[in-house]
Amino acid sequence: MTVKPIVLNDLPTDLDYLRLPNHVAVIMDGNGRWAKRRGLPRIMGHQRGVDTLKDLLRCCKDWGVPALTAYAFSTENWGRPLDEVEFLMTLFERVLRRELREMMEENVRIRFVGNLAVLPPSLQEEIARSMQDTQNNTGIDFTVATNYGGRQEIVQACQAIATQVQQGLLNPQDIDESIFEDHLYTKGIAHPDLLIRTSGEMRLSNFLLWQLAYAEIYVTQTLWPDFNREEFHQALLAYQQRERRFGKI
Ligand code: IPE
Ligand code: IPE
Ligand code: MG
Repeated sequence: MTVKPIVLNDLPTDLDYLRLPNHVAVIMDGNGRWAKRRGLPRIMGHQRGVDTLKDLLRCCKDWGVPALTAYAFSTENWGRPLDEVEFLMTLFERVLRRELREMMEENVRIRFVGNLAVLPPSLQEEIARSMQDTQNNTGIDFTVATNYGGRQEIVQACQAIATQVQQGLLNPQDIDESIFEDHLYTKGIAHPDLLIRTSGEMRLSNFLLWQLAYAEIYVTQTLWPDFNREEFHQALLAYQQRERRFGKI
């Protein structure tokens, strides 16, 4: 009798399951360039980028990476041409509505971080619905940074803390990193271990400034719509070769 080995996941054999990052963050950059190189309008790149994100989320689940955060729209992205901004807002809403059922089936817990209150009301509704419906799902933690800015997040945390001090609920001496984190959008979400940025740009672009303090950074030239499982595999391999010292020796 042959005994079939138990396959826990499809993790490539050169990756160590026990040393996978607990949380991967990704700056999904290069959609516009991807489209331009094909003579297409920029929005086609955004459209294709959704498929890439969907596959990466599934890959995280298949390989055993428990949390993924994706940068979808920055506080600075409002400065783009109005038609591109409007396309993106509509795209987010459409995709959320379309994917909610599958996220439930796949046991995905979705959360949004950013200044959500100024997003189009119909998008806010989809966001609220998806967060509520998936809040008890335990398969994978998926966070989408939308109208997110790291500086803005820190400033609003300061405002909230200052208000507590003003109301006599908190002593300035008692403010520590833990209290500060409780006022960030990412409250309760572990810091990313690995940041991936596509399309070659060597900058954070205002993404998770506090949370990425000790993340390993991996930049690939590949444009976001072309990012795939093999690219993710390479990023994880690079991550596993890093020595994380956290300031020690
Ligand atoms: C990232 O791709 C997606 C968003 C910022 C919404 P870009 O749209 O920035 O693509 P490039 O960098 O112009 O190629
Ligand atoms: C960062 O990409 C924002 C997102 C991926 C959502 P950008 O394309 O906006 O960043 P810059 O302008 O190159 O810094
Ligand atoms: Mg860009």
